[in-house]
Amino acid sequence: MSKNAILQIDGKSYELPILKGTENEVALDISSLRSATNGVITYDPGFKNTGSCKSAITFLDGEKGILRYRGYSIEDLAENSNFLEVAYLIIFGELPTKDQFEKFENDVKGQAILNEEMKNIINGFPRSAHPMGMLSSLTSALTAFNPSPVNVKSEADMYNAIVKILGKFQVLVAWVYAKNQGTPRNYADYNLDYVSNIMQMLFRIPIKKYTVNPIAAKALDKLLILHEDHEQNCSTSTVRIVGSSEAGLFASLSAGVSALWGRLHGGANQAVIEMLEQINKDGGDVEKYILKAKDPNDPFRLMGFGHRVYKNFDPRAKIIKAAADDVLAELHVKDPILKIARHLEEVALKDDYFVSRKLYPNVDFYSGIIYKALGIPSEMFTVMFALGRLPGWIAQWREMRLNVEPIGRPRQLYVGQTLRPYKTLNKR
Ligand code: ACO
Repeated sequence: MSKNAILQIDGKSYELPILKGTENEVALDISSLRSATNGVITYDPGFKNTGSCKSAITFLDGEKGILRYRGYSIEDLAENSNFLEVAYLIIFGELPTKDQFEKFENDVKGQAILNEEMKNIINGFPRSAHPMGMLSSLTSALTAFNPSPVNVKSEADMYNAIVKILGKFQVLVAWVYAKNQGTPRNYADYNLDYVSNIMQMLFRIPIKKYTVNPIAAKALDKLLILHEDHEQNCSTSTVRIVGSSEAGLFASLSAGVSALWGRLHGGANQAVIEMLEQINKDGGDVEKYILKAKDPNDPFRLMGFGHRVYKNFDPRAKIIKAAADDVLAELHVKDPILKIARHLEEVALKDDYFVSRKLYPNVDFYSGIIYKALGIPSEMFTVMFALGRLPGWIAQWREMRLNVEPIGRPRQLYVGQTLRPYKTLNKR
């Protein structure tokens, strides 16, 4: 392939360097376009064709259904690793040695405590508040208790900030849930691993002995691994862009939580279960909802179907589907919505509307089914997604700060009024 692409505008030629990634992905470097052409910019709504950065964290090939973290396949990691080990890998670039992992795990555990004054903030929320809104606010509120900015030039400072947020975020997740449920707020147990700790903090109540179910813990661990990173999606790009202004780590992560909340992104897992429950309540007529999804005049979409990048299949959905089957069988869960989900999938995968548009079940189609089986209510699904995505956001923020990327600031094509004089009120 040639080294440059030629762009012609008004008879003038401009050379745009062609960049190649390690997986042979090709990009046109347009970083000097505006200055070279005296003001021409590119137009790409939704950034569907725009690479905003160079990144060495996650590789995904939407056509082939490939997802890898730091070169390791998602299938390999989901089968053999655990959430915290994958977090280390994503953030620092290599799998930890035994000593590194033990230190990392203990450091994270050592941070799994919140300032007691955080309780005053939580008490101020109405019980009906959406857990994602609370989580975003509380993540930002952590800044107030940790006001000194992270010195990104110091490896130790960076490491301390990372273990701090990994430790504290899981407590926030549990406390947000406790607020919604009206149950006591639990603390972490130093003897448990990360995922077991989350489970006991979520579900333990003082009057009963709580034992972590290893099947449930394994399924949750897998689910969290699958969510850890997904390159430059909406929430991750948000974290990078907020962080690019040198806003702190916690403030950037709080923005990521807000971006994830939307139902076209992380909020889809809640929307899937709500949709399945709605179909069930409505008599289980799957075909009726397929017709609604296909009707261009009906805003209804089949939640959990389609993906901006995966146009073949979502490799995470494949792993989760198998995990959902296992966990439901082993926990002896019989849920009518599962039957609806399977029927819906079967019909949609044969329907030309979905096939021609390459709309396949995405990760969220099945994740809610597992969360539901684990006893997690639907309003908490996106919070669980945020917990899983946290290491990815941290890794991307770290990479962006270490690369010293410029502040994120897109351009626009102005289509508003041209200059006009102000009219006083009596002349309008
Ligand atoms: N149900 C019905 N039709 C759909 C769906 C769907 N779920 N998704 C896309 N389409 C149709 C669109 O109407 C459009 O049809 P047209 O070409 O006739 O106009 C075509 O497929 C292309 O859709 P776009 O919205 O342009 O695709 P885009 O890549 O922008 O959107 C998205 C991807 C947002 C995920 C979309 O498929 C969607 O809304 N899915 C449902 C929500 C969902 O499950 N989100 C979770 C994504 S995974 C994640 O964030 C972890």
